[in-house]
Amino acid sequence: MTFGETVLVHAAAGGVGSLAVQIAVARGARVIGTASERNHEFLRSLGADPVTYGDGLAARVRELAPEGIDAAVDFVGGGVVDVSQELLKDRGRVASIADGEVKAKGGHMVWVRPDTADLTALGTLADAGKLTVPVASAFPLSEAADAFRESMTGRTRGKIVLDVS
Ligand SMILES: NC(=O)c1ccc[n+]([C@@H]2O[C@H](COP(=O)([O-])OP(=O)(O)OC[C@H]3O[C@@H](n4cnc5c(N)ncnc54)[C@H](OP(=O)(O)O)[C@@H]3O)[C@@H](O)[C@H]2O)c1
Repeated sequence: MTFGETVLVHAAAGGVGSLAVQIAVARGARVIGTASERNHEFLRSLGADPVTYGDGLAARVRELAPEGIDAAVDFVGGGVVDVSQELLKDRGRVASIADGEVKAKGGHMVWVRPDTADLTALGTLADAGKLTVPVASAFPLSEAADAFRESMTGRTRGKIVLDVS
């Protein structure tokens, strides 16, 4: 995405979404992020305009962006690719990490992979104070099962840390 574009981030308060919001904001995008109401203030603090997910999402996003959106990223699955395509100026500008159907719909599936250049760019943003990692909770390695259980709730804000020191 480029400066001045509007991007819709689904599951914007989660571990992946909270970083995506900050990266898009740092690149000069206007970000609309979906979350439940308890996370709206958190999304504002990251620089996004929050919107509640669920039935009627497309209409709520249209209120914020009557002209439509330029790009969308899906970090939750469950059909939000379709909602995104209703709103996109270009239906192909949707990427998902959680919906195996996205490619068949003309969008992009993304799999996380280690990449030195990308990690360096993230480090530069962090050094500049433009990227922080919100931590939902931290567990010692001996409580990894509890960390996993918490991750499975789908309700965490930011990352869960497993301390292996
Ligand atoms: N393809 C890959 O390489 C890759 C890599 C990493 C993760 N993943 C997958 O990507 C997904 C996201 O990972 P994550 O670590 O960011 O998850 P996460 O941190 O567990 O996500 C939790 C967040 O999701 C939000 N949420 C739950 N249901 C939602 C909905 N229907 N609409 C919008 N937001 C919703 C919650 O917000 P509220 O509490 O406000 O509801 C919460 O903040 C997971 O399915 C994960 O398995 C894929």
